[in-house]
Amino acid sequence: MPGVVLKTLTKRYGDLAAVAGLSLEVEPGELVSLLGPSGCGKTTTLRLVAGFLQPEAGEVWVGERCLSSRSSVVPPERRRMAMIFQSYALWPHMTVAQNVAYGLRFKSGVTRADRERRVAEMLRVVQLAGYEPRYPGELSGGQQQRVAVARALVVEPEILLLDEPLSNLDANLREEMRFEIRRLHETFGITTLYVTHDQAEAMVISDRVAVLNQGRVEQVGTAEDLFRRPRTRFVAEFIGRTNLLDAVTADPGVAVRGALRLRLESREPASGSPIVVSIRPHEIELVTAGRTAPAGANVLPGTVQRTSYLGDAVDYQVQVSGTDVVLRVTAPPPVRASPGDAVTLAVAPEACVPLTGGGDGGPTAKPGME
Ligand SMILES: Nc1ncnc2c1ncn2[C@@H]1O[C@H](COP(=O)(O)OP(=O)(O)O)[C@@H](O)[C@H]1O
Ligand SMILES: [Mg+2]
Repeated sequence: MPGVVLKTLTKRYGDLAAVAGLSLEVEPGELVSLLGPSGCGKTTTLRLVAGFLQPEAGEVWVGERCLSSRSSVVPPERRRMAMIFQSYALWPHMTVAQNVAYGLRFKSGVTRADRERRVAEMLRVVQLAGYEPRYPGELSGGQQQRVAVARALVVEPEILLLDEPLSNLDANLREEMRFEIRRLHETFGITTLYVTHDQAEAMVISDRVAVLNQGRVEQVGTAEDLFRRPRTRFVAEFIGRTNLLDAVTADPGVAVRGALRLRLESREPASGSPIVVSIRPHEIELVTAGRTAPAGANVLPGTVQRTSYLGDAVDYQVQVSGTDVVLRVTAPPPVRASPGDAVTLAVAPEACVPLTGGGDGGPTAKPGME
């Protein structure tokens, strides 16, 4: 089974570089998500991989085969890929069985009996056995989605491409189908590129996630890498909620903002240069009266400004004493402090992650949330 390598792919529409020097390696059998906001170039990238578009620069490789370059493009039907679209694109006048069998018509050496066996088998895998005679209009959204998946898999593609395949489903079903897609991936192990703008979806489904920003890969890693070790401000803000703190580096591994001194996860050089530090709200501990902060933690005295009870968690906004910095803290219930209370915050150096790029030096720390 081959992997996929994208080498500095570029695709322009007029002045706009929809894909701007994008590079990515997908290992054989791996499922990688392309995650990013609307307009960042996800669909364009997938269409370049599928061969519906030709790049102005860069290359698409599958295993040992170069499928797209500036000078030549292998047509989509000769790429051994299957693509699943947001709209499913089922044929309304064909039954479920005919829709699934459709892809096999162009495959040589498949007898009618083979075809029927493979269609039946695939419908069983997506849990639609017995639905063969129905028409798409007689199915729920989730069932139509499963037909689209069956139709893509029945041709035994080397590479599977999915473009926001769950976005037409309602929220509950969408969550259920995440597990379904992951299960199918584990069953078939097909090298897969999965496009989504939904970070939770990407985190559940993928082996690794590539965060896209303006036509480039900003960072690629496991969900945990991206969450715990974001390298840029864009990634820190896009994956989960975080506190972003504009500061300057002091001694190696220390960031300073006014009266606030934070020991960081890594030893940044002591240059006095601006730096942005990301601290996840649940990494900050609220140390209430009578308790002590864990050894080695940064300890910050502060005053509670606001408390929000959210059922499964409590959100606090705490102003750090002697600074204009307001940090969000998320802790398990019950509510342990009210507005006006003096509290102590404790945060381990490993949870204070220095970011590169895009410190916009605002006057106050902006919790980058909502
Ligand atoms: N056929 C096209 N003609 C002109 N601009 C396009 C075309 N397709 C996409 N774009 C532009 O390219 C950018 C990336 O689009 P797209 O890849 O569809 O983003 P995404 O799938 O991440 O939402 C967007 O700004 C979009 O408006
Ligand atoms: Mg898109």
